[in-house]
Amino acid sequence: MNPNTSLAEPIAVRLHSITYAARDTHLYEFVRANDGAMPDVAPGAHVDLHLPNGTTRPYSLVRAGRGMKSYVVGVKLDPKSRGGSRFIHDKLMVGTQMSLSAPRNHFPLKEDAPHTLLIAGGIGITPIWCMAQHLQERNASWELWYSCRSRADAAFRDEMAAFGDRVHLHFDEEAGTLIDLKALVASASPEAHLYCCGPTPMLTAYEAAAAARDPDTVHLEHFGSVQAAATDGGYVIELARSGCELAVPSGKSILDVLVANNISMNSSCLQGVCGYCEVAVLEGEVDHRDSILTPSERASNSTMMVCCSGAKSARLVLDI
Ligand code: FES
Repeated sequence: MNPNTSLAEPIAVRLHSITYAARDTHLYEFVRANDGAMPDVAPGAHVDLHLPNGTTRPYSLVRAGRGMKSYVVGVKLDPKSRGGSRFIHDKLMVGTQMSLSAPRNHFPLKEDAPHTLLIAGGIGITPIWCMAQHLQERNASWELWYSCRSRADAAFRDEMAAFGDRVHLHFDEEAGTLIDLKALVASASPEAHLYCCGPTPMLTAYEAAAAARDPDTVHLEHFGSVQAAATDGGYVIELARSGCELAVPSGKSILDVLVANNISMNSSCLQGVCGYCEVAVLEGEVDHRDSILTPSERASNSTMMVCCSGAKSARLVLDI
């Protein structure tokens, strides 16, 4: 789907509660400004928070379901925050009026898998915990492995305790070592579906451990950028709907060039993780730098994220 052609209107919301979840991690619960029901949510979905400081950031939803009266996101304070988590932690107060996007899902759960192995690192627990609760409600076969640096960093521990030995906690400081992803992935049956969300080193290790599996059973989601954006420049983009041609110079992304030419584009994370800036590609070869498209989607060369991806060819024709 090209989200630039099918966007729902932002949802006006009010911050209803802020709850401590773990060290530097809070849960933010939003209700609709008109107190109505929220759009339905599938496990793994996220929303973009449109913050009062003008920035937009994607956050995974902690709960899925139909007709929910509120959405909850978990936000960990990033010491290098550029205005997202820092602003949320320091400035948002209960009662703040703002807006958020309708849910979107680049990390969908295969609900009828014979078994589901969930793996989370740090704040990557939010979409994974959403999946775990959903699978439990469906009485499905699942297990969760949750790794944090220390016990103080682990969210949802009280709720997890109710799920008994389906949940496995790993604290690096106590174990004196990182979680053994190689052994964990090797323990999964070929038919099981695996999901991992966590910091980039964890995802890299997970992908390596799962390299021999059927790729359709291996799922992951990044919550930070993995690669530097493509800003080499030196190519031309043609906007097919207008025929306009624009040069992308060194040091600029395609999105930079579009915005500089007053061409309206959707964008949120600017890191290739939210999918908000996806556009269809009609001609040319893309230099993909996002963390959303699967290898087969990349190979199809039919779509790209203009905030971070560039061109391997001298020309790209985009459906804009
Ligand atoms: Fe989020 Fe481009 S703005 S992927």
